[in-house]
Order: sequence, then C-alpha cells, then structure tokens
Amino acid sequence: MSDAPRQDWIASPGAPLRGTLRVPGDKSISHRAVMLGALAEGVTHVTGFLEGEDTRATARVFEQLGVRIETPSASERIVHGVGLHGLLASSDALDCGNAGTGMRLLAGVLAGQGFDSVLVGDASLSRRPMRRITEPLAAMGALIDTDPGGLPPLRIHGSRSLHGIDYALPVASAQVKSALLLAALYAEGETVVREPHPTRDYTERMLAAFGWPIDYAPGQARLAGGHVLRATDVSVPADFSSAAFFLVAASVVPGSELQLEAVGMNPRRTGLLAVLRAMGADIVETTAREQGGEPVADLLVRHAPLRGIEVPVELVPDMIDEFPALFIAAACATGRTTIRGAAELRVKESDRLATMASGLRALGIDIGETPDGAVIEGGRFGGGAVRSHGDHRIAMSFAVAAQLASGEVRIHDVANVATSFPGFMPTALAAGMHLRDATAAA
Ligand code: S3P
Repeated sequence: MSDAPRQDWIASPGAPLRGTLRVPGDKSISHRAVMLGALAEGVTHVTGFLEGEDTRATARVFEQLGVRIETPSASERIVHGVGLHGLLASSDALDCGNAGTGMRLLAGVLAGQGFDSVLVGDASLSRRPMRRITEPLAAMGALIDTDPGGLPPLRIHGSRSLHGIDYALPVASAQVKSALLLAALYAEGETVVREPHPTRDYTERMLAAFGWPIDYAPGQARLAGGHVLRATDVSVPADFSSAAFFLVAASVVPGSELQLEAVGMNPRRTGLLAVLRAMGADIVETTAREQGGEPVADLLVRHAPLRGIEVPVELVPDMIDEFPALFIAAACATGRTTIRGAAELRVKESDRLATMASGLRALGIDIGETPDGAVIEGGRFGGGAVRSHGDHRIAMSFAVAAQLASGEVRIHDVANVATSFPGFMPTALAAGMHLRDATAAA
C-alpha cells in the first residue's frame, strides 16, 4: 500500500494573482488514455498527460500487466497497445494508490480477463465504497471479492464469461458508468448504462475515438462487445478541477487579474463556472476552441466581490470535484451560501463535507454541516491549523483561503497534492500566492 509521507504547508496572504499560467493535464482523461491505449491495437501517443501520482499508478499497473509504456518527455506517454486480449497476469497486487478512478475503471477491465487480479490502494482509497461497481459487475457475470463492507482490496476472478446488462445507476457516477462500459467491451451482447443525471462522458468519447461503435447522449450510453480498439493519439487538455483553485483565488484576492490557458471546458465539468458567475465573479472565456475532441478555452479571471447563493442542485454533478474550492469562495462572499444534494462528497478522497466544515471552523468561519451539504456564512479567515486528511483538493483549497487570512495557516498532510497537481506550489508562488513547506508537527 502506498501512503505518502507526512508533509505540511504554511500558507499566508500573498500578492494579487497576476500573469498567465497553465495547469497540468486532465486527470480523468489521462487515466482513460493509458487504459484504452493499452487495450488498443497499435501505438497511442498521449500528450498533455498528467504527471500525477494517480495517473502514474494507472500506468504502472498496465506495465505490471505486460504493456510497454514509454515516457519520451514529461507529460508525454507512448503506449504500446497489446489488444483487448493481450494483457498478462500479474502475481503481485496492483496498486492504484489514492485513485478511485484508477481502481474502479480497472475493475471493469480486469473483470473481463482470463486471469485473476488483486487491486489495492492507500489508506484513503481502502475506505472508499466499491459495491457500487462490484454489484453491477456481478450482474454482468463478474466475480469480485471485497473486504467486509464492500471495501478494497478487490480480488477479481478472471475467466468469467460476461454478458451485457441494462443498468440504471442509483447515483450519478462517471466512474461506475465507465467501469461498466469497459467490462462491456468483453461482454456478450449489448450493455446500456442509464444515469440519474449526466456525468462526464470521457470514456464514451474516447471509445468512439478509438473506433469502438458506441451510442451515447447525456445520461445514457450503449455499446456491444466484440469489436476492436484502434490506437489513436490523445491530446489532453488542462484540468478544469486544477484551474478551479486559481479561479477562486483570483476572484477573492483584491487586485488579481489572471489568465488560465487551454482549460478543458467539457460542460459536465464546468458547473463551478456558472456558480461563481452567479455569485458575481468576473471570468471571461477567450479563444474557445477544440483540442483532441474536447472544448478548451483560455479563462481571464479578475477580482470581483462575491455574494452567497443557493447552489442549484442540478449543477452538483457538473462540479462534484470543485466543492472544496467553492466552500472557500462561499466563505469569502457576502451573505449565505447553501449547498444541497451533495452527499457524494462524503465518499471522496476524504469526507469533504466534514473536512471542509472543520477546516473552515478552525479559521473562524460560521458553517453548518447537513447530511447532504452545508450552509456557509461569509466572513473573514483568521489564522490557525487545518487538517486536509490527506485529501489533495482540501489542501489546495485552504492554501487559497490563507491568501485572505489574518494570520498564518498551517495545512496538515499535503503530500497527496501530488496525486493531481504535482507542481501546485511553484505555480501558486508564480501567480503571487504565499505558501511554504513545513515539517509535519509530531
Ligand atoms: C471521475 C469521476 C468522479 C470524480 C472523480 C473522477 C472520473 O467520481 O469525482 O474525481 O474520472 O470518472 P464519481 O464517479 O465517483 O462521481
């Protein structure tokens, strides 16, 4: 298991955020590019790949399964596909690190193999619910054992014959949808996945780009087994979720004017933009274009006073990873922000409703936690210490909060920022934020 060593940051008010920056590649797309590249016939060249711990773990797993992956330069991968049936068994467990996406999508792929595998993860991933994939995969004929409570490790029995299903997801989850679609590549007949609310469609788009016949529309995807994936090049846009910290930081720090380049603008990811704008943010999309089949844009964000709002429930899935950043914007806004319909935040890399509530309270913000959301009163941050619980997005969010704090903020346990945004500190410093490494208190 791969728990990162303890590391803290001390963050404090910096300068207005200015200049132009580009955040790293999209995590969701990077995972999928390695996976489909590995299962394709031919060689897939991935550019803009996220050099994060999560996506590197996925690449390592495929190397363990016999796939050759070259790294000609940082943020580039050349994946030598072995075809749908070319993976080899690994006698060692396959370590997904901190990555829920890695583990859940891999479970779909491995359920269709002619060999057994074991998927493990770090302490946080080992607490995350897996029944949401093991139950529908079992309905397709897969056999996966878990620890009590449906928790990892996942012991996946191979040599099962899978068959298609028509499955309505109980919760909106792109990971569950994708696990089923990947298992469906190996299944007899057709699989249909229906969602209660549309989620990110990267698996569907990429399967189509790799030549697999698939019908999809927001909220539904349908494909049949028995085809071939053909290698294609993948150009990964910058990750909207990583850009989100800077959208909020530049919105709340007076005097800021920051340009973010080539940000992925898939509409299933950009709910935060709509919410920040409704709060009064000044964010302008310039030079909207396409990159690798995905909409991208440069975003110009200028400081603007924010006011609290009721976050529309229908936007929750489109901003599911951006709530930690939104909580900071809400705490800086005038008035009250209400969040509902976001119980899924409790089963992310940490319980994000609880970790954000306790961190904001530690900095003097009035926040009430509800079973599926929070009520945040705008206020002023004091100094203090907050626990990120090893959650990358919590750590980065409090680094943003500290830019407006009246004293220093110690953020505990930040090493996992490297899972999604390895260069966060130098990028934040270059933009004007104040942040430094500190040894973890005993
Ligand atoms: C992801 C889907 C979302 C998201 C995660 C990445 C994906 O998870 O929170 O960071 O790449 O499919 P859920 O499917 O659990 O909502």
